[in-house]
Amino acid sequence: MNLSRNWRRLLGAALSLGLVFVVGMAMAAEATPEQAAGQRSHVPPMRQRPPGKAAIASANFLATGAGFEVLAKGGNAFDAAVAVAATLSVVEPESSGIGGGFMAVLHRARDNRDVFIDAREVAPAAVDAKDYVGPDGRPNRDHSLNGPLAAGIPGEPAGLVLMAERYGQLPLQESLAPAIRIARDGFHPDPRLREAIAQKRAILQRWPASAAKYLRGGKPPAADALWRDPAQARTLELLGAHGDAGFYQGETARRLVAAVRAAGGNWTLADLAGYRALERTPLQFDYRGYRIITAPPPSSGGVALAEMLNILSGFDLDKLDRAHRVHYIVEAMRRAFRDHNDYLGDPDFVKMPLDMLLSPYYADGLRQGILPDRATPSSMLPVAEASDPGMHTTHFSIIDADGNMASVTSTVNTLLGSSFVAAGTGVLLNNEMDDFALVPNQPNAYGLLGSKANAPAPGKRMLSSMSPSIVIGANRTMVIGSPGGSTIITQVLEGILHFIDGQDASEIVADKRFHHQYLPDVVYVEPGTFDAATSEELTRMGYALKPREPWGFMNVVTWNRLTNTLDAASDPRRPSGLGKVE
Ligand code: DON
Repeated sequence: MNLSRNWRRLLGAALSLGLVFVVGMAMAAEATPEQAAGQRSHVPPMRQRPPGKAAIASANFLATGAGFEVLAKGGNAFDAAVAVAATLSVVEPESSGIGGGFMAVLHRARDNRDVFIDAREVAPAAVDAKDYVGPDGRPNRDHSLNGPLAAGIPGEPAGLVLMAERYGQLPLQESLAPAIRIARDGFHPDPRLREAIAQKRAILQRWPASAAKYLRGGKPPAADALWRDPAQARTLELLGAHGDAGFYQGETARRLVAAVRAAGGNWTLADLAGYRALERTPLQFDYRGYRIITAPPPSSGGVALAEMLNILSGFDLDKLDRAHRVHYIVEAMRRAFRDHNDYLGDPDFVKMPLDMLLSPYYADGLRQGILPDRATPSSMLPVAEASDPGMHTTHFSIIDADGNMASVTSTVNTLLGSSFVAAGTGVLLNNEMDDFALVPNQPNAYGLLGSKANAPAPGKRMLSSMSPSIVIGANRTMVIGSPGGSTIITQVLEGILHFIDGQDASEIVADKRFHHQYLPDVVYVEPGTFDAATSEELTRMGYALKPREPWGFMNVVTWNRLTNTLDAASDPRRPSGLGKVE
């Protein structure tokens, strides 16, 4: 009886949600695009003395060291970002590299300029959605995840060139030098890399160049093995010497295309020559006196963060008990991910109702539909099982002595990308094609569903969850991001909420996390997040709680501008990371 009363209440709420949704849309139409996109900030631009020191947090101590090395040579945060990204390509290939892509939010102190760098991969011109569908009409995961058909045209090399040329102070060659040296002289692979290779061993063995690069006598390298990567060193050198032309044309391009085509892929020299990294306007909005500068499409991250924080701005989270605070956060996550699935894709290909999605009126409507004590069931759609978010993709955060900031998330998609190394280049290709909605409404590796907006097309960028962000308040600033597939967005959300609650970098990276993505309709919970009473209360409200590990690899830098102190921290869940202030 109790249950049926709850359901009646729920039905009433759903009806009123529909009404408010329609009214909200009508009102949203009256808001100027500027208001709707939250471009008018009430947070004053930062004006204060520079920190005088620098902070870098990345997933590998060698990469953090490479960043500081380049700062010591007179580079700024953007040169350091090039050094960190290139070094991660060598020492953390399971997560990111020059065969993949990245997204970055940069803040230049001199003129307070914020910019978004979109170095996302694109589909090759010959992309054919049929290649990713099996005879039974279901997704062919082997084609979307393994080997050259899984790989988009890499964006990272062009992104590094753009960042160095337009924002750096040093020649690209100098910023790439530490990565080239480490690749030439060798390094000891960390346990995560050895674990990744062990896990992907059978797939790596399919291609001689992949096996030659990652396996020693058919096995992952030993802990004390010195790992050298001369082919990648040479590819980085060509990039440093010739910029875009050193990768997307000439020797490297010819080798990449030959290797891909010989193994059944469809890239052409024109695909590579035509690739461009892009500067876009970052998405910006205010939440409780803080300005959030984050990723626009083709990432879904910024839109989802804006939607969630706009919904949450109507609740006084500080006054709520833990279970109700979690309840409202999860309901905000659920609603944002529904829109992610339906609307978002590459802005150069699809028209998205961003004015509506970013509008405070729209958030008001969504908020009205949240019941105070009850979970809203996601829908009657089939439940898609999300896979483990895993430990691939990487994020690093930098603030330099002048107050320049770089928030960079870089990826080859899943662990070791497509496992395909293009012979003679040392380049491990991504498997980002799986981030497209290859078969409509069939889940991808992260259990995300998608529609026409994210269907593959020649030259189109696949939708991403990467959410590199910078948060600026009256006295405090944070650079934040994380890997984690679909959980990137909710990890960054929780990080922002904790920062606004007063936490610094070391606390934020250590906080326990939870995640909801509309479908499947469960709350994924890192063990130890909730005490027994909170779990019980949430279960009573109708939530299905499901334990899930591991959980992210956040690298965060915070700057307290009142005391002018920096804090840099790498996720304690993974020992190879390093956050350092110097
Ligand atoms: O762009 C994206 O959303 C994904 N390719 C990111 C993958 C990822 O974060 C894997 N992490 N654990």
